[in-house]
Amino acid sequence: MSAFAANLIDLKDWIYLIAAICFIVGIKMLTSPETAAKGNYISAFAMLLAVGITIISGQISDFTWIAAGIAAGALVGIVASRLVKMTAMPQMVALYNGLGGAASALVASSEYLRKLDELTPFLSTVILLSLFVGSLTFTGSVVAFAKLQELVSGKPVVFPLQHLINLTLIVGTLAIGVFLVAVEPVNIPWFIAVSGIAMVLGVLVVIPIGGADMPVVIALLNSYSGIAVSLTGFVLSNNALIIVGSLVGASGIFLTNEMCVAMNRSIWNVLFGGFGQGAATGAAAVQDPTGAVKPYTIGDAVNVLEASQRVILVPGYGMAASQAQHAVRDLGDNLEEMGIDVKYAIHPVAGRMPGHMNVLLAESNVPYDLLKDMDEINPEFRQTDVAIVIGANDVVNPAANEDPSSPIYGMPILNVEEAKTVMVLKRSMNPGFAGIDNALFLRDNTMMLFGDAKSTLNKLVEGVKGK
Ligand code: TAP
Repeated sequence: MSAFAANLIDLKDWIYLIAAICFIVGIKMLTSPETAAKGNYISAFAMLLAVGITIISGQISDFTWIAAGIAAGALVGIVASRLVKMTAMPQMVALYNGLGGAASALVASSEYLRKLDELTPFLSTVILLSLFVGSLTFTGSVVAFAKLQELVSGKPVVFPLQHLINLTLIVGTLAIGVFLVAVEPVNIPWFIAVSGIAMVLGVLVVIPIGGADMPVVIALLNSYSGIAVSLTGFVLSNNALIIVGSLVGASGIFLTNEMCVAMNRSIWNVLFGGFGQGAATGAAAVQDPTGAVKPYTIGDAVNVLEASQRVILVPGYGMAASQAQHAVRDLGDNLEEMGIDVKYAIHPVAGRMPGHMNVLLAESNVPYDLLKDMDEINPEFRQTDVAIVIGANDVVNPAANEDPSSPIYGMPILNVEEAKTVMVLKRSMNPGFAGIDNALFLRDNTMMLFGDAKSTLNKLVEGVKGK
């Protein structure tokens, strides 16, 4: 070993500390779109530091497998970042969480087999916990991936005695764990049983959850993968893993909580409530006797825009699906050139992943100061001439405020209906992710502009330019 490498090893804990600080700073910077990209680089640098010093100080004599792992991982990462569409990001995150869980379970297993003669109660406990949480996270994430990728039905799968079966499995695993820690630490069949039961539990806890709640579940599984990593840190006595795992575990829980608040649900309701079981009621809009769908022409919309002074653009999942973010910016810019005050309203769960709309609008260089959070923009709709809803549906559904029988009743929404005119850009009367109809589309002050969002926006831009 070179003198340089030996000196670095002496500094190992300091380097871990620097990496941990960089991770914390990096995560903090991810909280604003302005600093997010730099935060990502800082976190990646911290990971390089932590992995680098771990490899150097690990008394590793053969780097073949490590090099092969880095090459394979880098290849998958590069290909995925190029090919996976923004709209498929939640599935990808689910899959990565699952792999993190599997890695923790595998490391715990290999440490168990390596240290059969040295198992203390503490070591056995952290190994078993890491195995349990890692295995559960793996299969739970694979089911979440399969649901979002529509490889299996997104509908909740429920059967009798489901909760009792889950509880029995948890109590059973606990009993096996106590046996392995206190009575017979070296017992490979029971060790494998813990992993097997955890994998079954991972499937059982995710299948009853509806597609609409899957993002919350993914955030929760992300947190579990962090907890598994942290436990692996205890198994390996590795401070960096303990710190990084705790950061992932804690931020995953915060994100889960934020999403639950944005949907006005409790985590228990998400996990056990079966929201989305009765998807696609298909009723309200069609049966509303007072309303009628009013398709308007681009010319009508341009005339209204021309006469307006304040416009709020409200993007939703449809903007992402039609890749209309550049066209949105184009329209915003043209309206501003006409002297109109333009803002963008961002709902925290618009789209299909946290920050989805921010990411897309940042990609099209919409100035950050024009992006307004729900709480900030909601009081402004009343003084707004036109709210242009671009492929949003659930996040602007007034039933959340007005209809106590609606599954989304109580969910905070963007109050677009308070604007003088609401223009809705979507292709049909189809419901959004929650599968419920939206009476907004039938209101007197709503103009439906049917068609693909990008193409409608381009036509609107042409229209306002011609004025
Ligand atoms: P949604 O309620 O899902 O509605 C999207 C609308 O976009 C649909 O009604 C669809 O209508 C329209 N659309 C689809 N493709 C389009 C295209 N090419 N051009 C124009 N319109 C198009 O979206 P939202 O309002 O953004 O609400 C998000 C929903 O997803 C919420 O229920 C939320 O809880 C859930 N969710 C959120 C997340 C996060 S964390 N953001 C993750 C997963 C799920 P047409 O088919 O008629 O065009």
